[in-house]
Amino acid sequence: MEKRNQLYEGKAKKVFATDDPEALVVSYKDDATAFNGLKKGTIAGKGAINNRMTNALMRLLERDGIPTHFLEELSPTETLVKRVTIVPLEVIVRNIAAGSLSKRLGLEEGKPLARPVLEFCYKDDALGDPFVNDSHILAMGWSDEAELAAIRDFALRVNAILREFFRTMGIVLVDFKLEFGRTGGGKLVLADEISPDTCRLWDAETGEKLDKDRFRRDMGGVEAAYREVMRRLAARAAP
Ligand code: TMP
Repeated sequence: MEKRNQLYEGKAKKVFATDDPEALVVSYKDDATAFNGLKKGTIAGKGAINNRMTNALMRLLERDGIPTHFLEELSPTETLVKRVTIVPLEVIVRNIAAGSLSKRLGLEEGKPLARPVLEFCYKDDALGDPFVNDSHILAMGWSDEAELAAIRDFALRVNAILREFFRTMGIVLVDFKLEFGRTGGGKLVLADEISPDTCRLWDAETGEKLDKDRFRRDMGGVEAAYREVMRRLAARAAP
């Protein structure tokens, strides 16, 4: 596999073409942004942690029947993935009230939800990734009924699998964001990343935040939190 020209540079990752038209290389950066790019910084070691953690979780999900874009870890910060067209939705699953849900509905952060809450945002930086519902998604043609049903089903299954996995690491999976893609063959797969950038992870004993909220909220100890999640995962994950 030969890495070729850069196709895209996002806030936390770069994507490169390869000599295989069906495969791309994702390269994870230490750069961090929040509030739609308004706040910028770096989190030393984040690229390698997010790459390794995403791949460990994608492998775990594949074993449990969730199709993903994962192909092969190439280096500490680079992974070969299937080329997909991203469904332009951020799919958010929540188990405990926090962040924008707490703000929107006036719920205390940490309040358990009676059942998982699923939300969709339209992926558009210029619009600030606005909240949308099923009828927007279908009317705009961002997805169709059958695909949206599959996205919902996968998202809730991913939640059940990851919640249990993090529980065994002494971590509460508060909420997270997923993205899905369509392969050249038209198959829906889980794409993007699953990391402390895209999940809220709280220590089960102390409630300490072990995720990007430490960066968003200027809490300090950002690198140490990412390393702590990776340490627990490495101790727990099958090779
Ligand atoms: P929110 O409470 O700010 O809506 O975030 C919900 C979850 O989604 C949280 O785990 C962080 C994640 N997230 C992203 O991965 N990317 C984003 O751009 C935002 C706003 C949230």
